Parts: sequence; structure tokens; C-alpha cells
Amino acid sequence: MARNLYPREKLEVLKLTSKQAIPYLHALWTWLLTLRPFWCFGETGHTVDGIVGWMFFHNFSLVGTTSKYGSHVLVDATTADILGVASLVPDDRGVGAELVEAFPGKAKPTGFWGGVYIKDHAQRSGLGRYLCEFLDTEVQTRVNSTGEEEEWYLFTRNPHAATIYTALGFEEFAADWHIKIFDVHETVYKKVYRRQA
Ligand SMILES: CC(C)(COP(=O)(O)OP(=O)(O)OC[C@H]1O[C@@H](n2cnc3c(N)ncnc32)[C@H](O)[C@@H]1OP(=O)(O)O)[C@@H](O)C(=O)NCCC(=O)NCCS
Repeated sequence: MARNLYPREKLEVLKLTSKQAIPYLHALWTWLLTLRPFWCFGETGHTVDGIVGWMFFHNFSLVGTTSKYGSHVLVDATTADILGVASLVPDDRGVGAELVEAFPGKAKPTGFWGGVYIKDHAQRSGLGRYLCEFLDTEVQTRVNSTGEEEEWYLFTRNPHAATIYTALGFEEFAADWHIKIFDVHETVYKKVYRRQA
């Protein structure tokens, strides 16, 4: 059966630390605080080490700066509804060092994609793909302008998320890898961004 795709012309992706995101923040935190692992693919909202604390940790020092790192919020600009989030972070609780140690000479992470989440009621309407394409374009555009290669990683055990990432050019780096720091098995994906003509 054909899926109903969310109308793309209504969508906007805002950097969490931008002034444009401020009117959305109350609704954003209210939503994220409700996430619970048993229905949210392991994501918890309300604990100090859950997604809310994680996003504050990764964005607090970025306010007022320009950085390749940080979180993004997907909104419907016509209704002011929050639809999803995704983050680009330099490291995720030490997993960078773990990766470098486990794959000597093979992994030089610029950073990690993480906290990719589309609101439950809005899933399967093309929003995850839209948000990830936005981040991918942002990274590629920067690499085209700086000429500096960037190597991004992500971990997932959600096959639908993997569909999106592989379509963007992420390749499986390690299947079902045991991430000691989180004590979970997830597949690691990697994409090296190089300048495109
Ligand atoms: C994974 C997630 C980000 C995908 O976003 P989404 O908006 O639901 O997905 P999209 O509508 O953009 O669909 C992307 C692809 O996945 C497929 N897909 C997504 N959810 C699916 C489902 N429940 N069943 C079957 N296919 C599904 C779609 O068919 C589509 O593939 P296609 O374009 O080839 O048809 C979202 O479902 C989510 O937030 N899940 C919970 C948190 C999570 O696991 N995040 C990823 C962590 S790395």
C-alpha cells in the first residue's frame, strides 16, 4: 500500500542552538521527556543520561558559535509542530576511543550521527529520510567548500534507519558490534565525505 508522504514544502530543519529554534524548545523538551525505552528503540527521555540530558550536553557550549556539531530539529513551519530530531556529535560517551582501539588504523572519526528520532505518529511518512538527507547535504556542502575529508559514523539496530543511511552512502563497517560502553550490539556504519566536483 502506498505511504502518505509528509508534504515537504511545510518542513523546516532548525539548528537547536539557533534563535529560530527558540519558539519550539518548550514543545521539544516536553515531547522528548516522554520517550521510554520499551517503545522508543531504547531511548529514554526523563533520566539525566537520557536523550534530553545528552542533547543539552552536546549543545550547551555551542550556543553562539558555528560548529559542524550540534542537534537539529525538524518542524512543520505551518503548524509549529515538532516532528523529529537528529544530532551530529564529536563523540558519544567515549565510543570514539573504543572504535579507534577496536579497529586500529581504520577508524578516524570526525564524529557520530545520533539521537535520530521521528515522532511516533509521524513515522513512515518520509520524515526520517528528509531529516537525514538534510544533514548529509550539510556535511557534503561543507566538505565541498573546505576540501577537508570528514569521516562520520553511526550505530543502529533499527533496519528502517539502516535503509535510510545506506541510501545516503553509509556503508556497513562492523556488523552487530558489541559497544562496551553501552553494553549493546549494534551495526556500525561509516561514510567518508570527500569533495565532490
Ligand atoms: C528510524 C526512523 C528515524 C525512520 O524515520 P521514518 O520517518 O519513520 O522513516 P521514513 O518514512 O523516512 O522511511 C524510510 C525508509 O524506511 C522504511 N520504513 C520506516 N519505518 C518502517 C516500518 N515501520 N516498517 C517498514 N518500513 C519502514 C520506509 O519504507 C522507507 O523506505 P523506502 O523509502 O525504501 O520505502 C524512525 O522510524 C524512528 O525515529 N524510529 C525510532 C528511533 C530510531 O530507531 N532511530 C534511529 C536510531 S539510529
